[in-house]
Amino acid sequence: MPKIIEIKGFTFHYAGSPRPALTDVNLSIDDGEIAIIAGPSGCGKSTLLRSINGLIPHMYSGTYIGEVYINNLKVSEHTISEIAKHVGYVFQNPENQIFMFSVERDIAFGLENLGLPREEIKKRVDWAIDLLGIREIMHRAPHEISDGQKQRVAIAGVLAMKPKILILDEPTSLLDPLSALDLITTVKHLHDTLKLTVIVVEHRLDLLVSIADRLIVMEDGKIISNNEPREVLKDDRLLTVGVGVPSIVRLRHLLKDACIFKHLPLTPSEFVEQINVAQR
Ligand SMILES: Nc1ncnc2c1ncn2[C@@H]1O[C@H](COP(=O)(O)OP(=O)(O)O)[C@@H](O)[C@H]1O
Ligand SMILES: [Mg+2]
Repeated sequence: MPKIIEIKGFTFHYAGSPRPALTDVNLSIDDGEIAIIAGPSGCGKSTLLRSINGLIPHMYSGTYIGEVYINNLKVSEHTISEIAKHVGYVFQNPENQIFMFSVERDIAFGLENLGLPREEIKKRVDWAIDLLGIREIMHRAPHEISDGQKQRVAIAGVLAMKPKILILDEPTSLLDPLSALDLITTVKHLHDTLKLTVIVVEHRLDLLVSIADRLIVMEDGKIISNNEPREVLKDDRLLTVGVGVPSIVRLRHLLKDACIFKHLPLTPSEFVEQINVAQR
């Protein structure tokens, strides 16, 4: 499988900060994966995303060692707008990237910056609007739409650039549980239809573990675990790291040896299924 993201021995130190925000990070992501990044606040999740989309080292001042490659491009040697054609980055707070007078204008903004012809811009904006199901709000102003709709507009805006990689920083943090589930379902659908590689920083692991190929856990600027979610969650030390371990996984760990489970259940339905099998 070709590696679409390759991070080699990457250490980053924000200017003026007493210690590095990332220390010797090594990470390979295959084309088409869905990966979750989890870990307590301040552990370096957003910094890692900024190292993938080029904001680090191009916009944040600091010093670094190592390299980040996207589609075999060295991030440090390409501009942020060049990287944006490969990596769509959705900010934690969509208000940071939605600021035009209408949804439609917002989605066109990045494309206008690329200097694409008007016809091509119109075609891509239309495509992204239908993809995210936001046609009925396309003429509204950003302050007239809900937080969930803002997330969709932000995603439409980055996907209009036709990137292969979509990265989202805590996309559900402003959403109620139902809108959060709705958003994650949309992200999974976009992944499947556009064959995207998706990286999501997310605390609500219960929404994502069953659709993710990889769970990366960080602590103090380092990756402490990186594997299939079921493998990572087998380690009960994670219960004390500050990661939102799904309740059903917590319950399985609490049950310790008094247990009939063949493998770690990730969702309530997997839990029930295994109990039913054991009772037969
Ligand atoms: N712009 C910045 N300048 C200096 N230090 C920063 C900056 N952004 C984040 N940091 C520091 O880097 C560390 C990692 O932060 P961050 O990547 O935002 O963590 P997370 O996203 O996991 O909460 C923290 O100690 C934080 O205070
Ligand atoms: Mg963060």
